[in-house]
Amino acid sequence: MYIFESCTLARLSFRQTSCILLFSMYNIFYTGGFSMINVAVCGANGKMGKEVVKAVCKAENMKLTAKIDISGGEFSSIKEALNTAEIDVLVDFTQPKSIYENALFCLNNGIKPVIGTTGLKDEEICELEQLTKSNNSGCLIAPNFSTGAVLMMMFAKKAAEYFDNAEIIELHHNQKKDAPSGTAIKTALMMSEAKSNFMAGNCPEIETIKGARGGEAYAGIHIHSVRMPGYIASQEVIFGEEGQIFTLRHDSMNRECYMKGVLIAINYISAHNEFVYGLEKIM
Ligand SMILES: NC(=O)c1ccc[n+]([C@@H]2O[C@H](COP(=O)([O-])OP(=O)(O)OC[C@H]3O[C@@H](n4cnc5c(N)ncnc54)[C@H](O)[C@@H]3O)[C@@H](O)[C@H]2O)c1
Repeated sequence: MYIFESCTLARLSFRQTSCILLFSMYNIFYTGGFSMINVAVCGANGKMGKEVVKAVCKAENMKLTAKIDISGGEFSSIKEALNTAEIDVLVDFTQPKSIYENALFCLNNGIKPVIGTTGLKDEEICELEQLTKSNNSGCLIAPNFSTGAVLMMMFAKKAAEYFDNAEIIELHHNQKKDAPSGTAIKTALMMSEAKSNFMAGNCPEIETIKGARGGEAYAGIHIHSVRMPGYIASQEVIFGEEGQIFTLRHDSMNRECYMKGVLIAINYISAHNEFVYGLEKIM
């Protein structure tokens, strides 16, 4: 695309031709050449992986170098991919039982992992943090890559400073196995960093139907889980006090909503040797 037909060049002035050549050199060296991030996707045939493949292919400063999947992938493992592909950053959307080993392999082989797969244990996260630091590498783990959902959590933490009562309602499709959602738990945790009790002034309660008040999480925040076809992933955080109700709500319409966050994460971690847990840390 940077090569112009000689007759086209001949019609342009010397100054115009020089500009075009300089621009082309700039693009070749800085955009199309040395600054491209080589990205591999692990779990490339899965629901999230397919979206990541599309998003990386569209990103101007990224090159998709490997599609890895145990089920019909271009490569069946990261090790196999590394024989032929250059990988700076590996995005992992696989399954809980693979994620820790995948991340260890990446960090020990000069690859920076961006981890979307949920289910890492606390001690595994600590070990990955240690390994990232001792290898002077980069690793980013985000339980939620949706920028809107992350902003909702950040705003909920801020609002928690001003309201003494709050509850969370999370609404998901009816194939979701776990309840409450990881996002709801993380939201409650972040709010509890701002305040230690969100049940101010509530009278003693009796549940005539068990579970009517939802599950109680950090700082007395009640979480209510709805499971229903039609929803993908939604959440409301409701704050109240005498005379006002303040509601924060986020709805995921499809899996594309996670891709802006995934691209932010790839760009960030490729430029930083850091361990990052949670997209909110870099937003
Ligand atoms: N962080 C987020 O924002 C976010 C959003 C949605 C889903 N998730 C998580 O992402 C994960 C994947 O979700 P999904 O809906 O795409 O699942 P999925 O089942 O559709 O896809 C998983 C893919 O990974 C492949 N796979 C499994 N183990 C592998 C391994 N060891 N090596 C290579 N490929 C392997 C499978 O063959 C499959 O194609 C889940 O843990 C889910 O909870 C996270």
